[in-house]
Amino acid sequence: MKTVSIAIDGPAGAGKSTIARQLAHELGFRYVDTGAIYRTVAYFMDLWGVSPKDADGVNRYIDELTVGIEYDESGLQHMMMNGMDVTNDIRTQEISQKASLISAHACVREMLLDMQRDMAKQYNVVMDGRDIGTVVLPKATVKIFLTASAEVRAKRRCDELTAKGQKAKYETILKEIQQRDYQDTHRDIAPLKMARDSIKVDTSEMTIAEVVAAIREIIREKTGL
Ligand code: DC
Repeated sequence: MKTVSIAIDGPAGAGKSTIARQLAHELGFRYVDTGAIYRTVAYFMDLWGVSPKDADGVNRYIDELTVGIEYDESGLQHMMMNGMDVTNDIRTQEISQKASLISAHACVREMLLDMQRDMAKQYNVVMDGRDIGTVVLPKATVKIFLTASAEVRAKRRCDELTAKGQKAKYETILKEIQQRDYQDTHRDIAPLKMARDSIKVDTSEMTIAEVVAAIREIIREKTGL
């Protein structure tokens, strides 16, 4: 069976996961959050006390890790680290930064590549990340590059944390976002960049519903779905 794949790439905080999840729901596709896979590796290395910048350490420990993706009845993606569900543990600011550094290592990207491609071979997917349209699924049916200014992304993240009752300082969050943008776009292997055949959607001035509707329309035009 030929599957349909929607690749959504873009920088941290552009709204990829919220939008990809909604689109997957509307289309009846599987949502694959590839950032969560890198976060799982970062979390594992952190538990073993390996610095995300330590290439030798990462190389030495990577064989000890088995990453699994499971879906519950509601379609929610669960990340399994050597059989243990770490879905909630990987959602911290610290792991965000570490995942960005961990993802630069060749051994990490190689290990995760087939896993991502297999998902798209087996299922119709909306897959979000940094290199989906460029490296993981260069033949994706539809490619979207979702972006927004760093200031807007920092403001959104700030509001999100405040709404959850967590402390959030705009300046600190903006700096973290800028640092992650730099790391993700400047690494040697599979850096974040727009694929040539990708459609850019700048969400700075758009609501979530508007973005979902706009991308839904692009998908309809390209696939008839
Ligand atoms: O999307 P996220 O914030 O959960 O991703 C965490 C980090 O993982 C991100 O800063 C870079 C890395 N990543 C990647 O290199 N390639 C992907 N396809 C997805 C994420």
